[in-house]
Amino acid sequence: MCGIVGIVSAKNVSEKLLNGLANLEYRGYDSVGMCFVNGNKLNIKKGIGKLDEVHKRVNFLKLNGNIGMGHCRWSTHGGVTEKNAHPHVDCKNKISVVHNGIIENYSELKEMLIGKGHNFYSQTDTEVIAHLIEDCLKGNKIENAVRNALKKVEGSYALGILFADSPDKLIAARNESPLVIGIGNGENFIASDVPSILSHTKKMIYLDDREIAVLTKDSFKILNLDGNEKKKKIHTIKWSAEAAQKSGYKHFMLKEIYEQPRAIADTLNGRISNSHVIFEKELGLSDDFLKGIKRIVILACGTSWHAGLIGEFMLEELAKIPTEVEYASEFRYRHALLGKEALAVAISQSGETADTIAALKEAKKYGVKTLAICNVMGSSITRISDGVAYTRAGPEIGVASTKAFTTQLAVLYLLTIMLAKLRETLNESQIKDMIAGIRKIPLQLQSVLDEDNEILKCAELYYNKQNSLYLGRGINFPIALEGALKLKEVSYIHAEGYPAAEMKHGPIALIDKNMPVLFIAPHDVFTYKKVLGNIEEVKARGGIIIAVATHGDKEVPKKANHTIFIPKTLYTLSSILAVVPLQLLAYYIADKLGRDIDKPRNLAKSVVVE
Ligand code: F6R
Repeated sequence: MCGIVGIVSAKNVSEKLLNGLANLEYRGYDSVGMCFVNGNKLNIKKGIGKLDEVHKRVNFLKLNGNIGMGHCRWSTHGGVTEKNAHPHVDCKNKISVVHNGIIENYSELKEMLIGKGHNFYSQTDTEVIAHLIEDCLKGNKIENAVRNALKKVEGSYALGILFADSPDKLIAARNESPLVIGIGNGENFIASDVPSILSHTKKMIYLDDREIAVLTKDSFKILNLDGNEKKKKIHTIKWSAEAAQKSGYKHFMLKEIYEQPRAIADTLNGRISNSHVIFEKELGLSDDFLKGIKRIVILACGTSWHAGLIGEFMLEELAKIPTEVEYASEFRYRHALLGKEALAVAISQSGETADTIAALKEAKKYGVKTLAICNVMGSSITRISDGVAYTRAGPEIGVASTKAFTTQLAVLYLLTIMLAKLRETLNESQIKDMIAGIRKIPLQLQSVLDEDNEILKCAELYYNKQNSLYLGRGINFPIALEGALKLKEVSYIHAEGYPAAEMKHGPIALIDKNMPVLFIAPHDVFTYKKVLGNIEEVKARGGIIIAVATHGDKEVPKKANHTIFIPKTLYTLSSILAVVPLQLLAYYIADKLGRDIDKPRNLAKSVVVE
């Protein structure tokens, strides 16, 4: 996720651009850059680091003019370097591009353009767009060159484009990445989100996929890629500035829960075909090594540790690799007996958790290869690991981890498929089914988010309970742990996650008519029938049963006080769907209690002390 903002105006726009970028910084802070057009020349300043650090070094306000654009980067293709910072330009330094998204066919395009004599400067996927437009320009109108170039592009993009020789026009384009057009008075805007330009205009047009916008200071035109002009609705935004920061959501946690369909789609983008996972190059570990792994040790804390437990399940079940999941904070204090054919996998949203860093360093002492599953490019954990698989959740601001968790599960799933294929533990048709299953997840997640009535009702009824129990089995036992952790963190209500059958060995003593018991009970061939039995045991003791079950299930609703339905999916994917109602329940209960949801007491977003 990156942020882009652009303005074409009758007046100098440098301060407005700088403020716009400051509002977008939540979308990425690896590097930042700005570009102006002055007298048929592009003027660019950029650097790595956060906006205020780069601004101190380069002074963005030294750039000025009536047309300009800015970008803050959350790296996906190419490391965190100044060369990879946006804007990117063509060979003649006449076309400047800022981009949010992922160009899936960039390698083919780059090869084709190099063949035609284009010189590339960065490792980004974005730079191909500048050269592709250059290639399509050759005497054409600029908007036609942009349209023709984008017809060749596969993947997601929100783009801002400036041309040195057209100093009155700002061009924008969108496909599967957010972009709004702001209609001002004597000035027009483009931006990744509404809040970044809301103090200048409340009139917005939402671009749809494969549309381009051509803006001058006092006109705007929206075209599809065939060049047909489109009539678009102008929306008047009624949010307050504070609500707008969170795109209208009351808290970042809620916004991030709702971002999960997009985050999973981004995490899959360019990494799957119909029959296999395209991951090897990214991981930086050789096929020979991956084929020969004898054991995997997963190191993580908190929510990331819960993702690890689900990863263990997938890796053992499908790739047949013995796997252990260690609390990173405990790993250093025991003798792990790792051999050279082991792989240590560190899972961390921030990449800065002190215990996970320490555990990873400890694992390296055994001479094992290491892999990071991480959300933050260039973070400490990614720098000390041999390979990295990034989750592409985008910046997570709410302290309680939500979209980072589900994207970690998606990456673990892809890793499992890749290893299973290499080691021939799954056949082609099983792999196809698994890929088809995860392709459906973004839409299925959206449907879970759209049906939150029963969750809201449970929050209303039970927000004042003192305790609750979360029970699941098999791959969904860690979801019981995660659901309980979410509730504890944001509502401060005591909650325990337990394997459903273990309840009989102690916690069952707690059950009475005041105890909500959350069952994760999707319909599968492995645990479903047993979980039904566990539900009966709680019912017999008068507990309040809230169950997460599969659409169409007739048995669970007969026994539970409340049933929250999720769509049918593969057993190994049920956790990604099942956790979402539990995230929402924790959120709504905390909200009823008036908690400081995005910054719960005593907690920090990254725990950088051991
Ligand atoms: C819970 C939560 C924490 C983190 C843990 C590890 O909602 O956010 O439990 O999961 O502190 O953090 P990372 O993943 O950044 O290493």
